[in-house]
This record gives sequence, structure tokens and C-alpha cells, in this order.
Amino acid sequence: MIVCHCMSISDHEIRAAVDWMRAADPSTIITPGKVYHALGKKADCGGCMPVFLDTMRSCESFGVAGDPARPAAPMLKPMRARRLG
Ligand code: FES
Repeated sequence: MIVCHCMSISDHEIRAAVDWMRAADPSTIITPGKVYHALGKKADCGGCMPVFLDTMRSCESFGVAGDPARPAAPMLKPMRARRLG
């Protein structure tokens, strides 16, 4: 699924970039800007940010181990349930 239409970035590419960054540095804080940079692109309109962030947070490797502010296991289901409710 295309997440960022301006830059044609798919959910698969975002997940691959998050996994790659986590493998390269277990303690790095992964941000949308870092994902764009890893993919060699820049955000344009920013309209994709909510879905872009949800995609990043759904990655098993998104969180930093031992950091309660960024848990290794994302809490995606409660966030989605809140939107649908
Ligand atoms: S849709 Fe992603 S920057 Fe515009």
C-alpha cells in the first residue's frame, strides 16, 4: 500500500527502513525524517504523516528496548480501536 503519495513510499519500504535503522543502531530514535532520509527522499505536503507514523509504530523493531517511552512492542491495537470507535 502506498503511504506517501508525494514520494511514492509504500508501507513495505517504511518497515524495511525502520528494520534497517534498528539493526544498525539498537538505541536510535527513529523519526519520520530519518525514514525519509534512509529512503533518499524528503516529505512534501505532510498529509501522509498520521498513516506514516502508524506504519512506523506497527513495526516490531520500532521501539527502543528498555525505554518505557518507546516500548519495543507498540500499542497499535488500542490506537486503531480508538479511531474506529
Ligand atoms: S503524501 Fe507524504 S509528503 Fe505528501
